[in-house]
Amino acid sequence: MVFEQELDLLIRSSYPIIYVPTPEEERAEQLIAYVAESGSPPRDLHIWDFVSGFEGGAGRSNPVQALDEIEKARPDVPAVFVMRDFHRFLEDIQVARKLRNLARHLRTSRKTMIILAPSLRIPADLAEEMTVLDLTPPSAEEIDAELDDLLEQVTVRLSSGGREALVKACQGLYMIRIRLALARAVASFGRLDDRAIGLVLEEKKQRIRRTEVLEFWPVTETLDDIGGLDILKTWLEQRAAAFTKEARQYGLPHPRGILLVGIQGTGKSLSAKATASLWQVPLLRLDIGRLMGGLVGESEARTREMIRLAEAMAPCVLFLDELDKGFAGLGSSFVGDSGTSARVLGTILTWMEEKESAVFIAATANSVESLPPEVLRKGRFDEIFFIDLPSERERREIFEVHLNKVRPNRIREFDLDLLAFQSEGFSGAEIQQAIFEAMHVAFNERREFTTDDIIRAMSLIVPLSKTAGERIQRLQEWAASGRCRPASSDAARSGLIGQLFGEAGLPGGR
Ligand SMILES: Nc1ncnc2c1ncn2[C@@H]1O[C@H](COP(=O)(O)OP(=O)(O)O)[C@@H](O)[C@H]1O
Ligand SMILES: [Mg+2]
Repeated sequence: MVFEQELDLLIRSSYPIIYVPTPEEERAEQLIAYVAESGSPPRDLHIWDFVSGFEGGAGRSNPVQALDEIEKARPDVPAVFVMRDFHRFLEDIQVARKLRNLARHLRTSRKTMIILAPSLRIPADLAEEMTVLDLTPPSAEEIDAELDDLLEQVTVRLSSGGREALVKACQGLYMIRIRLALARAVASFGRLDDRAIGLVLEEKKQRIRRTEVLEFWPVTETLDDIGGLDILKTWLEQRAAAFTKEARQYGLPHPRGILLVGIQGTGKSLSAKATASLWQVPLLRLDIGRLMGGLVGESEARTREMIRLAEAMAPCVLFLDELDKGFAGLGSSFVGDSGTSARVLGTILTWMEEKESAVFIAATANSVESLPPEVLRKGRFDEIFFIDLPSERERREIFEVHLNKVRPNRIREFDLDLLAFQSEGFSGAEIQQAIFEAMHVAFNERREFTTDDIIRAMSLIVPLSKTAGERIQRLQEWAASGRCRPASSDAARSGLIGQLFGEAGLPGGR
């Protein structure tokens, strides 16, 4: 819902105090004024700030007195009171007490108080009284109107599809930033043409960088870099066109996301990244640790901002790497700021369930034990894939992938069958490590490396499957309990999962 509609609804439903965190004070006030004016009946608008007080100076330099003024106003006259920067006074005990009394009074009057602040900071004891309403970045219509204004002032040479592309590029940015970027385009090129699109996209990348929790992740990996994992690859390939207009017309919903579960080094992050290149969309990586760090309230505000930006970048893949680490301890006896993490996780999960945008979540986890159970609940991910240690056939493919990268012309000289046989228990990452080890040794002796070198290197590596056997077994048991799908048809046929499902249980009936 757009800001104006939602604000109108909150006012009509007598929500006493609405908190609007936004860097765009001016735009927020314009929209609030519009909602106040166009309401039925229309509402009076009063604006307070610390320096000037209300119009006429009441409550100047005195927040408690300002609240008094609101209380004294006639309860039957519809009115909206905008309090600029009032977040700064909420920690004050007198203000807090007064505000709680006032909230009770406001519920039964036709008055609404709106706090306008650049950041979201609500003391815990006031959380119940306040409703947070985000000022979303301008809609496509608002941007269109802004462009219309601009058209009257500068020379415009946008191509036929250029205008639409420019509006799309601007989405997710605040109006101040849009104006700056367009002004920069006009200043650099002497007119507004399709080159502005690139500049605006650059501005958006900067904006994403400034959040410090989202990052553009350059992707070089493709499906060809992955050995094995045939079921997962097929699943991804089938959805390669799922973000297109044709898919919408066909009636397909946007794919929501996948969770890849498996021990370290089995290619989970690799597969998540390859998804973005297969689908030819940008990859945004969310730094969960950073999201959680910081003050109470900040994390939640950042989460919402992250969601907005990701949606503005759609279609895109949002990469949530090592979820289990980011949300470890939730739901257990962990104290710390588990309240914040729980709310952040809750916000993300709710969004995942409700989102209709083309943001595909690619999440990974090394274990499920420390993962909050609600993550695994149905409806969050389209599919949860279990990535087991590679089978012999898959290890052969992994050797082939990596040897092809370093020695494309000598690949025939390696005994792939022997290497695959000898590397039982090795993960993809460990196979790669063994190849590099062998190369180091041979390079030092100034000769080419061979199959024997790799086998010798493998004998010196203790694979994780040896040291963490129990952990792997627990994960396999969990996977076999049917809460996920095997990522490879070999894993599905053999081992614990195979025993439980049998071949018949294989998805796709392979
Ligand atoms: N199935 C695979 N095919 C090819 N390479 C692999 C595979 N699995 C792991 N690797 C290699 O190991 C590296 C680390 O894998 P990664 O995806 O980061 O593991 P995970 O995220 O599961 O811990 C990859 O960059 C890749 O070089
Ligand atoms: Mg990883």
